[in-house]
Amino acid sequence: MTIDIDLIKSSGKAVQDLGVQVAQHFYDTMFSHYPEVRKMFPGDMSEQRVRLFHSVILIASNIDNTDMLVPYLKELGVGHIRYDTRPEHYPIVGKSLLLTLKHFLGPAWTTAMAESWIEAYNLASTICIQAAAEAMAPERYVPLVLDDVPPVTQ
Ligand code: HEM
Repeated sequence: MTIDIDLIKSSGKAVQDLGVQVAQHFYDTMFSHYPEVRKMFPGDMSEQRVRLFHSVILIASNIDNTDMLVPYLKELGVGHIRYDTRPEHYPIVGKSLLLTLKHFLGPAWTTAMAESWIEAYNLASTICIQAAAEAMAPERYVPLVLDDVPPVTQ
C-alpha cells in the first residue's frame, strides 16, 4: 500500500474549504464513540477545534514535504506527553478522523483514498509516538550522586 499524494492533498483541500465544522464533527464522533477520552480535553473546545483543523490541513498539504513534516510531527508527539496521550489513544483519533473524512467527502471517499489516509495516519502516529518515547527514554535520566547535595557546613 502506498500513499497517493494527490488524493491526500485534494481531500485535505476539500476539508479546508468545508471549514471548522469538520473539527466539530470529528470531536462529536470521537466523544460519542470513545467517551473515555473526553476528560483529557478542556470543557470549552472552541480553540482546540481550530488547532486540530489547522494541524490536519497542514499535514495533508505537506504530505510530500518530509523535511517539514517529520520535525513537525516529532514536536507534536513530544508536546502530547503533557496531555498524557498514550500510544493506544492514536487509533481512537485516527478512526474518528477517518469516519469524519468519509462523512464529509461522501462519494469522493473511495477505497484508494481510505487506504492513503490509513497509511498516512499510521505513519504520522508512529513518528509522534516514537518521538514521545525517545523524549521519555529512561536512559536520559542522570542518577543523583552525593555531589548533587552540598555538604552541610556548621
Ligand atoms: C496525529 C494525531 C494528532 C494530531 C494531528 C493532533 C493535533 C493537536 C494539536 C495541533 C493540538 C494543539 C497544539 C498542541 O498542544 O500541540 C493538540 C492538542 C491536544 N491533543 Fe492532539 N493531536 C493528535 C493526536 C492526539 C491524541 C491521540 C490524543 C489523545 C486522545 C490527543 C489529545 C490532545 C489533547 C488533550 C490536547 C490539548 C487540548 C487542550 O488542552 O487545549 N491528540 N492536538
